[in-house]
Amino acid sequence: MVTWSAPGKVFLFGEHAVVYGKPGLAMAIKPRVFVTVRKNRHPTPAKSPYIDGCFKAMDVTGSVYVNSQMPSSAGLGSSAAVTVATLSAINDEFDLGHTREEIAVTAYQIERSVQKGRASPTDTYVSTIGGMVLITGQSRRKIPPQNLNLVVGNTLVSHSTAKMVELVAEGQRKFPDVMNPVMDAMGALTLNAVRSLSNPRQLGQLMNINEALLEALGVGHPALSKLVTASRTAGAFGAKLTGAGGGGCMIALCPKHMKGRVAAAIEGCDARAIITSIDTVGARKENDA
Ligand code: PMV
Repeated sequence: MVTWSAPGKVFLFGEHAVVYGKPGLAMAIKPRVFVTVRKNRHPTPAKSPYIDGCFKAMDVTGSVYVNSQMPSSAGLGSSAAVTVATLSAINDEFDLGHTREEIAVTAYQIERSVQKGRASPTDTYVSTIGGMVLITGQSRRKIPPQNLNLVVGNTLVSHSTAKMVELVAEGQRKFPDVMNPVMDAMGALTLNAVRSLSNPRQLGQLMNINEALLEALGVGHPALSKLVTASRTAGAFGAKLTGAGGGGCMIALCPKHMKGRVAAAIEGCDARAIITSIDTVGARKENDA
């Protein structure tokens, strides 16, 4: 029996723009999913299509126990983390010898099949390898990580990534001469951000610009705006929605001593706050039994 864990992720910059081939920046974050796998010829049926997909892909049978510290359906990549941790644990328990890269690719294929073609390879890649990842077109490159003091605010408003991506596509079709420069500016924000990673004040400013552009795309939500404003007022360097928008989560970049204050301001808006920072490890073995 073995236990593996894998982290969640946030988009720091460039969500939606990455769909149009512009650069984006994602980061693995601390809430983890823990998955224990045991060889078993008579497995108890897993209640998750992701876990079923993992056993099918690896062509083995076993039983599984999941312990998640991460909210699901919030855009923090919890399904990717479950898939990555389960595949890693199966790989180890059955001595299959797959590499990390192979695990990331298989995890993406499983997510894509469960989500009917609508998965992003970013979630599974970031969860597998950890750290900060620069996305440009089909390429995903790990960049030297920087510790950022982040607070995630979960609006608890449910949202659909597919719907938000479609909404942006509609705007793009209708007003290409307006929307193309917005996408270009988002890509430029990501590249500026990569150069500003050691300057949190400047990074916060870039986040605020990115938030305004995401609003321009139409993926904002009053509950997100409320948390963004509350975080800035409480002392954050900058704040923006993260992921698809229309609900889900936002992030605030804070001075170290302000994290508690910003989290309290978010909780004061009937939302959930998670104080977090980068996870540089990715998928990791927790223990053998
Ligand atoms: O819902 P999330 O957090 O996985 O983010 C979606 C990000 C998009 O750029 C809107 C879509 C994508 O596949 O990158």
